[in-house]
Amino acid sequence: MGNSLRKIDPNRALRLAIAPVIPYRRRQDKRAPSAPRIERRPMTSTQSALTHLQCSMTGEIVSADIAQGLSPAGKPLLARYDLAGLKARWDRDALSARPLDLWRYRELLPVRQVENIVSLGEIATPLVDLPAAARRLGHRGRLCAKDESRLPTGSFKARGLAMAISKAKEFGLKRVAIPTNGNAGAAMAAYAARAGIEAYVFCPAETPAINVQETALQGAKVWRVNGLIHEIGAMVRQQREAAGWFDVSTLKEPYRIEGKKTMGLELAEQGGWRLPDAILYPTGGGTGLIGMWKAFAELEALGWIGPARPKMIAVQSTGCAPIVKAFDDGTEHAAAWPNASTLASGIRVPAAIGDFLILRAVRESGGFAIAVEDAAIEAWRARIAAEDGLLLCPEGAACAAAAEVAISDGRLARDSDIVLYNCGSGLKYPMPDPARRLDLAAPFDLSAILRPN
Ligand SMILES: Cc1ncc(COP(=O)(O)O)c(C=O)c1O
Repeated sequence: MGNSLRKIDPNRALRLAIAPVIPYRRRQDKRAPSAPRIERRPMTSTQSALTHLQCSMTGEIVSADIAQGLSPAGKPLLARYDLAGLKARWDRDALSARPLDLWRYRELLPVRQVENIVSLGEIATPLVDLPAAARRLGHRGRLCAKDESRLPTGSFKARGLAMAISKAKEFGLKRVAIPTNGNAGAAMAAYAARAGIEAYVFCPAETPAINVQETALQGAKVWRVNGLIHEIGAMVRQQREAAGWFDVSTLKEPYRIEGKKTMGLELAEQGGWRLPDAILYPTGGGTGLIGMWKAFAELEALGWIGPARPKMIAVQSTGCAPIVKAFDDGTEHAAAWPNASTLASGIRVPAAIGDFLILRAVRESGGFAIAVEDAAIEAWRARIAAEDGLLLCPEGAACAAAAEVAISDGRLARDSDIVLYNCGSGLKYPMPDPARRLDLAAPFDLSAILRPN
């Protein structure tokens, strides 16, 4: 699947894509002088097959027709679709006529009315091969990065927040709040601005400056808070009624995961409906990993893919590795990680409400959870930038560091097809400043300039 973009407003592209197809004969008739004028009624339904929401722990069903947070048991709610009905009326070949964005999967997404879609152009992201990294690792199979930095606001958070804010619009919500390590807050700010919804964003004090600045410029009220994301999440939850906020925290509303699910739908389509052998995913709250796992199950129910699944590999930093510890200990839930600290801010998540869902997906897939040192993250970020020309975010580089360990210890076969997720733009994070300076007033020393480092 290529990624050529048409210069077209994404909302308009979607409306065009779902406009009823007028058969060729009728179009010809329209040109005949005596033909009656054909009225084209605006088509407003997305044809979403959403039916209900279901508690991911107890299986309890609740309505998808009102705004919902957590399930009555206090666990994440998952969107359910009429997959049997969809199988009968939707064919994967129909996708080829649609724009290359995430709304091409709209039947399997929760937004019901086209006019509620809030879009900034959520393009399909490319799979970028990393041949130099593969050579270094002695890897003979494919090693590539799904480069999510190309999305609006420069991260995969655009997928989840496009969906959550579109649903917020559909429910007529006016005020949303989010605890965030940076990228999610920026994405929420952008989509809320476009939807005319008030946005309140709270991030840990160490959040990269650019995240805080972009969030503010995109119209949200943003605060740095002296706590970690789970503590800030508790504060948002406590205050939400008094403040009139709808809480858009990771997995505390059911639709961000539906947006993230499109990473899995897209990956399957890009592979010609064949999945890779392994997915390395930088895991904080785990929405993307859980979302992709859900996507694969839904695609199988539609008959679009078979039962084969990639190993799902949750990558964390040794400075904050609750999922890795729980995986190694064989527990269903993960204990909160004390004194969490890592330069990969997106995965500095000491406690995740969806811990059991992450662990379930990893175990069912035959995958594993793995932690890497910050020094290895920095080294791989520099290597891939210099040798493959792709500037990863630290979270993406963590996946490369994890691939090195898992390929060398045999957990990943040397001829396997590996996809790592570069979830955000490397440009948002601090980078070393090259110290070299040139003085135009001094004699030009060409040999010093051409000297190898
Ligand atoms: C760049 C980046 N990578 C990874 C993550 C973790 O994503 P998830 O919450 O889906 O585990 C985040 C979350 O903030 C992020 O910003």
